[in-house]
Amino acid sequence: MQSFFSFLVGISLLNGVPGFALAAGFDGSRFAWYTSESGEDFKSSVPIGNGRLGATVFGNTIENLVLNENSVWSGPWEDRVNPASKAALSRIRSMLVAGNITSAGQLAMSSLAGNPTSPKAYQPLVNMSFDFGHRASGISSYTRWLDTFQGTAGVSYTHGGVNYSREFVPSHPHGVLAFRFSASGKGNLNVKLSLARQKSVISQNFTVRNGTTSGHSATLAASSGQANNAITFWSEARVVNSGGTVRSTGDGLSVTGADYLDVYFDAETSYRHRDAASAQAELKRKLDAASTAGFTVVRETAIADFTSLMGRVKLNLGTSGSAGTQPTPARLSNFKKNPNADPQLVALMFNFGRQQLAASSRDTGPLSLPANLQGIWNRDYSPAWQSKYTININLEMNYWPALVTNMAEVQKPVFDLISVAVPRAQAVAKSMYGCDGIVMHHNTDLWGDSAPVDKGTPYTVWPMGAAWLSSDAMEHYRYTQNQTFLRTTVWPLLQKTAAFYYCYLFSWNGYWTAGPSLTPEHAFVVPRGMQEAGRSEGLDVSIEMDNQLLRELFTNVNQTCAALGLSADDPDCAKANAYRSKIQPPRVGPKRGEIQEWRAEYDETEAGHRHFSNLWGLYPGHQLITPELTKPAKRFLDRRMSSGSGSTGWSRAWAVNLYARLLEGDSAWRHAQQLIQKFPTANLWNSDSGPGSSFQIDGNFGLTAGIAEMLVQSHGGVVHLLPALPRTVVPEGSVEGLVARGNFVVDAKWKAGKLTEGKVLARSGGRLEVRVQGGDKFQVNGKPYSGPVETKAGEVYVISLAV
Ligand SMILES: *[C@@H]1O[C@H](CO)[C@@H](O)[C@H](O)[C@H]1NC(C)=O
Ligand SMILES: *[C@@H]1O[C@H](CO)[C@@H](O)[C@H](O)[C@H]1NC(C)=O
Ligand SMILES: *[C@@H]1O[C@H](CO)[C@@H](O)[C@H](O)[C@H]1NC(C)=O
Ligand SMILES: *[C@@H]1O[C@H](CO)[C@@H](O)[C@H](O)[C@H]1NC(C)=O
Ligand SMILES: *[C@@H]1O[C@H](CO)[C@@H](O)[C@H](O)[C@H]1NC(C)=O
Ligand SMILES: *[C@@H]1O[C@H](CO)[C@@H](O)[C@H](O)[C@H]1NC(C)=O
Ligand SMILES: *[C@@H]1O[C@H](CO)[C@@H](O)[C@H](O)[C@H]1NC(C)=O
Repeated sequence: MQSFFSFLVGISLLNGVPGFALAAGFDGSRFAWYTSESGEDFKSSVPIGNGRLGATVFGNTIENLVLNENSVWSGPWEDRVNPASKAALSRIRSMLVAGNITSAGQLAMSSLAGNPTSPKAYQPLVNMSFDFGHRASGISSYTRWLDTFQGTAGVSYTHGGVNYSREFVPSHPHGVLAFRFSASGKGNLNVKLSLARQKSVISQNFTVRNGTTSGHSATLAASSGQANNAITFWSEARVVNSGGTVRSTGDGLSVTGADYLDVYFDAETSYRHRDAASAQAELKRKLDAASTAGFTVVRETAIADFTSLMGRVKLNLGTSGSAGTQPTPARLSNFKKNPNADPQLVALMFNFGRQQLAASSRDTGPLSLPANLQGIWNRDYSPAWQSKYTININLEMNYWPALVTNMAEVQKPVFDLISVAVPRAQAVAKSMYGCDGIVMHHNTDLWGDSAPVDKGTPYTVWPMGAAWLSSDAMEHYRYTQNQTFLRTTVWPLLQKTAAFYYCYLFSWNGYWTAGPSLTPEHAFVVPRGMQEAGRSEGLDVSIEMDNQLLRELFTNVNQTCAALGLSADDPDCAKANAYRSKIQPPRVGPKRGEIQEWRAEYDETEAGHRHFSNLWGLYPGHQLITPELTKPAKRFLDRRMSSGSGSTGWSRAWAVNLYARLLEGDSAWRHAQQLIQKFPTANLWNSDSGPGSSFQIDGNFGLTAGIAEMLVQSHGGVVHLLPALPRTVVPEGSVEGLVARGNFVVDAKWKAGKLTEGKVLARSGGRLEVRVQGGDKFQVNGKPYSGPVETKAGEVYVISLAV
């Protein structure tokens, strides 16, 4: 993995400029790279980030970086709860129970939908441009790249006999973005730089400090909106030149005759600072520290930090030969015709998913923010779906690769956001439902907004958001075995979530039932005997996904009780156990023989709907993996896919994971390939329906998780090696560093579709039960395996097939 870096350093001397790259050196599993500029196309710009600040590198003749900071959203928190909610709830519920579906839906929309209907939207920060005075027609040997291993980006080209390079380094340790612009020879770098924002700029300043080493500054302060308490931010680019001079032009800084130029960028916002003085002091502290350390040190520490995450997993799905040595757009295009020729593109997509997650979600203090629908990258004031946190699948999908691909710490921002949301979610539980505990609906924002969102019966009234999020906290514990986290985060969250349902659920058909609720974002045809027959509606009671989430919640309380040493008589544990025994088990529809989606086997409005909500318990959950339920789950999945599901990138990514859970490696692989054939934009971002449609990052993360899911699974207490290996298409390969529940780190090598060597590192010790592929006999440390092994923390257990 280090070889390319030394290679790059090697050629950089040859080319007389650091960071100058030759295309021939790009490892096809690691680099996305381009031989042309992005122009105005955001979706071919190269995205990097330090977990809080994001940048996309267009690499145009005039470089125009789109910069983001993850707490710049469109305004302050506001109470959107509909005051009519509490009074209307029981009426809506009785109408639904009586089969008066349409009227229930109408009353729900007028009395439960929030006002306004939407929480806040994620906003762009600033644009930063660098004009080198070059002509596009004079540029040759152009290369632009993303290094997924180091998390860095670069551009290099020749103009007028001089070699130029641009290096872009996001630094989590220094909390800044650092850029270096270089030219071969002496004094050949001229550049005019400026910061710009279209809306609500408060002040701009281009300061030249003579005779100081602290550098020159371009600053821009702005507000995200007119409202009081909108987000205010202060941003600064600190410029340190080597050689030449810097002067202010009033609307920017002009650098002439430099050898190279370093730029350190930061932005601080009112989300994390109570006043301007505090934000500005933090801005100064970070920029002073970075510029004092200097670019070389900032780059080295940033790369050491980033590669410490990325280097934990190594994936080899086979080599592509010449198919893998081409620029990324050519590979994407060839992959449409001949996907089997470029397995390294699948590995690149896997690595890209991990890079994007590490770039958009890091612990940056107590108010860290998670990756939103666009990760951290957005240039629009009205982004698609407000670029929110959508919690009826999308935010959760963002984190599917976090645990299994050995980056548990990138989830920390999710738990920070939940902490922010808890008081909001308590207030909504009280005011809408008259209940204690917490409730969240299908979206939230940086304020933890918990009220219902938008206005439509198939999506607005879904009181299950906190249930899903709490299960993610439990999974974090299952993978990491962090007892402190279990005690201080999981347990209080489960209790608050359960407290809501103890009040909110009602008894129907002998079971504790949620409703009014829905199966995310699907509608059914109201059957004869219900009102109004033939209409398409969304609201119902006893939704299959709700039941699965509730069963998971009460099971998680039970398991946490056990892990904390509480007895079944403890009131919290006893209550959860009692509720769990009265949750409707999954129903198999009489006509179709599939896991049912609503309370009855209604006709669907979209047989190929993009969500697989009633298969929640197949993936990410696993309660449908039983001898009785796997078949009806598969039947549903097969029919939904053959009816056109997988129609968005994230939906297709979910299908990859579902087929992997069904142990159908070839199907999982085929859907992964089809995802890569259809959805990635030029810069590898996932899209809704192809490169011309909106960018949404969940599909990238879901795909990364799906590839891992083919190679190791660990639900149900067994570490399963190569459970869904696509044996015919990927007969040979290896993976290192995936993580299984129980905090086991798993390596596996295979040849001719068979495991040749496995290794399990027991990071926490504990009982290790193993399965290999379809149930092959194997040895552990040379002895035949006959059942679970009691492991010691820190020890490695070697798995080999019995001879
Ligand atoms: C620029 O790079 C090329 C290789 O791409 C090299 O041949 C050339 O000598 C370099 N020019 C300078 C001025 O260093
Ligand atoms: C359904 O609800 C509407 C509105 O409250 C009411 O007018 C109608 O009588 C109800 N019908 C049934 C069958 O409950
Ligand atoms: C940056 O420029 C793009 C157009 O290239 C524009 O869409 C975007 O809104 C600008 N960003 C800001 C923060 O104004
Ligand atoms: C610009 O910054 C300098 C140095 O910090 C300061 O002295 C000056 O007052 C600022 N000018 C404006 C217009 O804010
Ligand atoms: C910086 O130095 C230049 C050249 O000596 C001079 O013209 C300029 O006024 C100085 N600027 C400041 C802010 O002192
Ligand atoms: C365990 O969880 C606690 C509480 O969330 C956290 O502070 C700590 O860093 C975690 N330990 C590890 C090793 O990640
Ligand atoms: C957890 O649930 C199991 C199965 O219902 C039960 O036997 C056990 O007592 C429960 N444990 C606790 C601590 O509640």
